[in-house]
Amino acid sequence: MPRDDSHLPKALQGLRIPLIASPLFIISVPELVIAQCKAGIVGSFPALNAREAEGEHPLLDTWLTQIREELDRHNQANPDRPAAPYAVNQIVHRSNGRLDRDLEICAKHDVPIWITSLGARVEVNEAAHSCGGIVLHDVINNTFARKAIEKGADGLVAVAAGAGGHAGAQSPFALMREIREWFDGPVALSGAIATGESLLAARALGADLGYTGSPFIATDEANADQGYKDMIVGSGAEDIVYSSLFTGVWGNYLKGSVEAAGMDPQNLPTADASSMNFGQDREKPKAWKTIWGSGQGIGAIKSVGPAGDIVDRMEAEYLAAGQKLAAEFA
Ligand SMILES: Cc1cc2nc3c(=O)[nH]c(=O)nc-3n(C[C@H](O)[C@H](O)[C@H](O)COP(=O)(O)O)c2cc1C
Repeated sequence: MPRDDSHLPKALQGLRIPLIASPLFIISVPELVIAQCKAGIVGSFPALNAREAEGEHPLLDTWLTQIREELDRHNQANPDRPAAPYAVNQIVHRSNGRLDRDLEICAKHDVPIWITSLGARVEVNEAAHSCGGIVLHDVINNTFARKAIEKGADGLVAVAAGAGGHAGAQSPFALMREIREWFDGPVALSGAIATGESLLAARALGADLGYTGSPFIATDEANADQGYKDMIVGSGAEDIVYSSLFTGVWGNYLKGSVEAAGMDPQNLPTADASSMNFGQDREKPKAWKTIWGSGQGIGAIKSVGPAGDIVDRMEAEYLAAGQKLAAEFA
């Protein structure tokens, strides 16, 4: 029986598997987003990844044109397996001085899916709705989830424990249950979803979609050092450390990169949230550039390859796991 996704907004319907490739700071560039969309899942990138030199034409505008043209070409050549829509991530934090400009550019390009993080704001949701887009807001607990929906987001990304980058500390079992008690709109669940089995588990918890980031770091199309890709392949859940030191927000990082920077991952001090800064002037590009973010799910990643291979594998696992469970209930 085909998956019934008719309750979801149009932009989230008809995906090959119910999965969003999450935005990754520095790493998600058009090449990766295009590969993810062509493979049939939502591809995404943070608007802040498109950085031009002062006085130059906004790179975000160029990227959005490139993505649209490439996906249109794919759709004309492959009408039987059209590309999935793409999403742009906006960091809604006071230190992001480009936000208003980036919202305008995204509205001009009719960006279909907007993912917002680190702050829920009515104007951002209005900008998305003005061009027919939908907004999924990234939250780590039920309180933030309620605020996001009150301010006009259409859906949520529930970031549970074990997710890469800035991550929550709550079990996905607890978080999904609390959100589903009052919200029946679109929810994507995030946190160490690296296999089709974990994607199926997310669906069983009531999520409409999974939301996967770290596995896509170890791909040919990712804008990441070879050493970073190799460390993803060579690491597992035990090699992840949860710390607030690097950005002021709690997040998951590769222990190996912390050690390589001369620090002891077992004894990291905590930092306060006021040290968060997404402006061009930030002094600590260390987080993300030399301290490498990753979620706990990377034990499933055995090699570096094309992004499409991850989608192929997860689809095969998802279908097999679903059939196995369905047999128990037949
Ligand atoms: C290296 C890295 C960079 C990230 N950058 C962003 C970002 O710029 N914006 C954002 O909303 N989330 C960001 N995230 C979080 C992801 O979007 C997502 O929540 C997470 O990757 C999901 O967990 P997983 O990596 O275990 O699949 C980042 C995660 C990683 C690992």
